[in-house]
Amino acid sequence: MEQIKITRAAVLKEKPDCANLVFGKYMTDHMFIADYHEGQGWHDARIVPYAPLAIDPAAKVLHYAQEIFEGLKAYRTQDGSVQLFRPMDNVRRMNQSCRRIALPQVPEDLALAGITELVRLDREWVPSEKDTSLYIRPFVIGLDPTLGVHASRHCQYIVIVCPVGAYYPEGLNPVKIYIEEEDVRAVKGGTGMAKTGGNYAASLRAGSRAEEKGYTQVLWLDGVHRKYIEEVGAMNVMFKVGGKILTPDLNGSVLDGITRRSCIQLLKDWGYEVEERRISAEELFEAARSGALEEAWGTGTAAVVSPIGELARGEEKVCVSRNEIGAVTQRLYDVLTGIQWGREADPHGWIMKL
Ligand code: PLP
Ligand code: COI
Repeated sequence: MEQIKITRAAVLKEKPDCANLVFGKYMTDHMFIADYHEGQGWHDARIVPYAPLAIDPAAKVLHYAQEIFEGLKAYRTQDGSVQLFRPMDNVRRMNQSCRRIALPQVPEDLALAGITELVRLDREWVPSEKDTSLYIRPFVIGLDPTLGVHASRHCQYIVIVCPVGAYYPEGLNPVKIYIEEEDVRAVKGGTGMAKTGGNYAASLRAGSRAEEKGYTQVLWLDGVHRKYIEEVGAMNVMFKVGGKILTPDLNGSVLDGITRRSCIQLLKDWGYEVEERRISAEELFEAARSGALEEAWGTGTAAVVSPIGELARGEEKVCVSRNEIGAVTQRLYDVLTGIQWGREADPHGWIMKL
């Protein structure tokens, strides 16, 4: 891999108050960019001062959403060092998303170096307040400045980073989730398993409607039968029913979450039976009515492990775990965040120290 050229910002920004962060609002001093041209491959890997991009108004990304992104975090440990959680999982998933959206693969060493070198340069921005971290947003965009619907021959891989606290204003208090029955987010064969902007654009209307009703996010049903539970806007979901853990299987329209993967591993380590399978909304509500639904939670990089205290479908509402965080949800939160912030042993080798 060629050397990354670094141009430092002449003036450094004032850092925000890390006790009161708004998710994704305060970008650091620098960003990473590499260009791709068909026939030439990836070139000009560089870190430059954070600034607006100059993009041709006809660029494919602006019209046909030729873009994919990732999300991971850098954590400040008690001894002041900085570490990443499973970054290669993000790099590999990024390339799977690229494949689906006809973007070029980013070589793994370049993809990882863009992340690690930017975090190293802006390491002063990794906050140390409780439950804060540096959120890392790598993304790839298609830039060909022509309006024909074709894959781009000029693309960029960019990484930006920002200090963040809790994603939800609720913090670790249970969130309220609304089951969306009108709009669908994704179907098998579509782009649901890719982390691409279009999926999120498709979710915005339902998200706003749910917020107006007082809900935090929507829970998507499958796009074909409109019956089976898929995932929440920014997280995968898990349920504890009659002592077992249930989570929707990776059916092609659900994101293969890295937090999901990690929670399944921890749950199995602790002896829980984990069923990855189709779960209908009806099955879930039936379990809630009979008292078998013991806990519900979401998993995601931004959302970490978020207890779900209420589920609503149409006029029917069910309260989960007395609207309190359940014991398994709490244990998952404690152990996962313990590993991420370096307070707990890392038996699966998930941590990369910087
Ligand atoms: N599902 C969706 C739609 C997401 O946006 C996210 C967030 O990245 C997740 C699930 C959770 O994935 P991960 O745990 O890799 O962050
Ligand atoms: C993440 O958890 O990294 C996400 O991408 C969620 C989101 C803010 C879209």
